[in-house]
Amino acid sequence: MARSGATAHVDPVTGSLVYPLGSTVDAEGHVIVGGCDLVDVAREFGTPAYVYAPDDVRARARSYADALAARGVDSEVLYASKAAPITALYKVLREEGLSVDVASGGELHMALAAGFDPARIYMHGNNKSAAELKMAFDAGIGCIVVDSLEEISRADWLADRHQEVLIRLTPGVSPSTHSYVQTGQIDSKFGFAIEGGQADQAIAAIAASRHLELAGFHAHLGSQIYELDSYVRAIELMAEFCRPHSPRIMNVGGGLGIAYSRTDRPPSIEAYVDLKVDALERCFDPLPKVLLEPGRSLVGNAGVTIYTVGAVKEIPGVRTYVAVDGGMSDNLRPMLYGSEYEALIANRAAEEATVLSTVAGKHCESGDILVRDVALADPRPGDLLVTPATGAYGYAMANNYNGVPRPPVVFCGDGRATLAVRRETYGDLVSRDV
Ligand SMILES: Cc1ncc(COP(=O)(O)O)c(C=O)c1O
Repeated sequence: MARSGATAHVDPVTGSLVYPLGSTVDAEGHVIVGGCDLVDVAREFGTPAYVYAPDDVRARARSYADALAARGVDSEVLYASKAAPITALYKVLREEGLSVDVASGGELHMALAAGFDPARIYMHGNNKSAAELKMAFDAGIGCIVVDSLEEISRADWLADRHQEVLIRLTPGVSPSTHSYVQTGQIDSKFGFAIEGGQADQAIAAIAASRHLELAGFHAHLGSQIYELDSYVRAIELMAEFCRPHSPRIMNVGGGLGIAYSRTDRPPSIEAYVDLKVDALERCFDPLPKVLLEPGRSLVGNAGVTIYTVGAVKEIPGVRTYVAVDGGMSDNLRPMLYGSEYEALIANRAAEEATVLSTVAGKHCESGDILVRDVALADPRPGDLLVTPATGAYGYAMANNYNGVPRPPVVFCGDGRATLAVRRETYGDLVSRDV
């Protein structure tokens, strides 16, 4: 129920591209995700908490699969699990028939724990350790995406059997996104530049190896990309280089951007798939197996974070700080990239948002600001605040700054809320002490 003095208005959640599919505001003005009232979820699991709607993840995974099926191409969709390395999410995406990209021994461990067929695991990383490579060989993973000449010789030395590899290329294309998440440019710590002969050296090293076989090539231009044309250019440049080697596999990465604010209009999954497949079909005959590697666009909008407001500090003529019980320990992206988020008072979501606010975290840094200049409905201590679109690279980058335990992960679907990862305890914070 809207409180007295408040003006009811169109709710900002229903039909929003930012919130998980099917999210809405109920008659009491509470935000509903996956059929669950976030006020009840907060009461049961505490705050802050990451809340995911697995049905949203499944729908996006099916969009990828359907778009590729419609093109009738031999293909695989890999979940780029760095976006949200949560065992329960690996399971959801395995059930949806996806393969998986892991970028460390830890992600490999979780993918195996979630029951992925090792043959469907692809391992990335610009500095895989000998232990990580050994772990990959022992598990019998499908493919290693090699990233340096040292890694090629290290992998060949460690391998005790035949191993397929992809070469990670940097085609020299920089899409417009934050420089920290651009990865396809020549000046990159990732992969082998086509220009300058490094990629040729990688091919020669693999050809001279005892155990490694070149199955194909990989490139990933970066993340949160709306400008699809950059993929066309990258695929053309890759194809020119790769064609003479008749690759069996072309992995053209992930990177599709998502909506963080209600005015954002990212390209659809279908448009993204069509554009990449079109470009590959123009460049190759016969067409190699097409691999796509999405992370953010599978899980980003499926997750929200709920917080409790603890203090509201109005500095006259300056700004109003709304302090919540989390911050840069659960969502580093605003501090790392200046990323922008929306926010809403989740227990009074139908009320008009009239107070220009700055949502601050609880950490000992002035830069610990989750959302700048967002209109909130008269925020008060005890209110529940929700930030949508935190499903990707939120939990993944969570940390214990200021000794703050990491939040739990709660799955909401069909009106049932279940715990996927429990909240860290103070005991966990000292559990590794010796
Ligand atoms: C190699 C690789 N593949 C896929 C991804 C997933 O990107 P996104 O989450 O933007 O889809 C990343 C993330 O940066 C990456 O480094």
